[in-house]
Amino acid sequence: MGMVMQMRLLQLVVLFIGVFELNGVVCSYTRPPVRKTIFVPHDDDDSNSPEQVHISQVGQDKMRISWITSNSGPAKVEYGPSPSSIAFSETGSTSSYHYTLYESGEIHDVVIGPLKPNTVYYYRLGDPPSSRTYQLKTPPSQLPIKFAVTGDLGQTEWTKSTLEHIEKSNYDMLLLAGDLAYADMVQELWDSYGRLVEPLASQRPWMVTQGNHEIEKIPIIHSEPFTAFNARWRMPYEESASDSNLYYSFDVAGGVHVIMLGSYTDFEAGSSQYQWLQGDLKKVDRSKTPWVVVLIHAPWYNSNQAHQGEKESVNMKAALEGLLYQARVDFVFAGHVHAYERFTRVYKDKADNCGPVHITIGDGGNREGLATNYIDPKPDISIFTEASFGHGILEVFNASHALWSWHRNDNDEATASDSAWLTTLTSNPACK
Ligand SMILES: *[C@@H]1O[C@H](CO)[C@@H](O)[C@H](O)[C@H]1NC(C)=O
Ligand SMILES: [Fe+2]
Repeated sequence: MGMVMQMRLLQLVVLFIGVFELNGVVCSYTRPPVRKTIFVPHDDDDSNSPEQVHISQVGQDKMRISWITSNSGPAKVEYGPSPSSIAFSETGSTSSYHYTLYESGEIHDVVIGPLKPNTVYYYRLGDPPSSRTYQLKTPPSQLPIKFAVTGDLGQTEWTKSTLEHIEKSNYDMLLLAGDLAYADMVQELWDSYGRLVEPLASQRPWMVTQGNHEIEKIPIIHSEPFTAFNARWRMPYEESASDSNLYYSFDVAGGVHVIMLGSYTDFEAGSSQYQWLQGDLKKVDRSKTPWVVVLIHAPWYNSNQAHQGEKESVNMKAALEGLLYQARVDFVFAGHVHAYERFTRVYKDKADNCGPVHITIGDGGNREGLATNYIDPKPDISIFTEASFGHGILEVFNASHALWSWHRNDNDEATASDSAWLTTLTSNPACK
């Protein structure tokens, strides 16, 4: 069956199932111009050459290199500090998956290192090695660090614009709050997405968590959730004592502890995610990592009319907000709502100087368009709202100061539209 035909058939199935999966929430907001979906084909004449390369941080000084080939071949990476001295090599594992009629390529994962911080490395993939040499830059081992923060990215002309701006920001690491490819069961779109993001994701670590578009369950036909996400975007969960790729944590730049939570897996008290989070927060030593940043998908605070009252927002907030508050988490980033919103420090719906700043950054550029209608009157705890595509930059300068800024994709320029200096909660004696 031709690929386009298969995609159409699956889309019919998706439409059919979509009727049952709306959770009873009827969205009545209007969405302004959407830009068209891009399908990125494999760009090499050699159809077996490595593609969809992306990297993610593992531990303090290692990097996982992930890529796909159409035929099986060695999961081997050769790397070094200059293109002429690629002297080190490491091997890893290969996997693949089935999804209805689709059979994935060979997905290779190799962890390389130890690597020096803030250093450019050159690498080649496979054995014999790819003719192409890739390069990556490791994050710094000390502050400052610059994070790019995005969510609900998708793969449209808007996504392309967002990615161009992120690339120009010269960030150290990307944090993604869920909803990556918007493949929505059409697995070829995961491949296309992998190719679209490769120029960025092969050069800087992309640390991601999942959104509702990653679930991809089909009743009876494919009952396992997150198949493509887990196979293609393996994150360093074992290293943080988590038993699931859907939630994990890591330290970076000798000052920031990042926690990725799963909005679409169990989070209630007693669940393994809950217990893991409790243990993870207990282990954080704020004298070593003064900053704690959390990412979720469905926002706990949201004054947009879109996605109000969903259980992943309401119940997850009820289950976990106390833990994050007690642990003095500094930021909670969310996606899901296709717009930008920044709240003041909050806890239990009220302004609270010891609560986290909640930010919705679900405006990466996906095909569903923007969520433009807000609750009127605007709640006092909401500082800034705007329904435009864009991205966020979190620059953590030292143990006390960070600058958050949001950049709108204005007429295809990245325009700084909101910014705020924030100090860590550990530097506020009242929150000790
Ligand atoms: C931290 O960085 C901010 C912003 O650059 C600066 O104003 C502040 O003095 C720095 N603090 C320390 C302790 O270096
Ligand atoms: Fe979403």
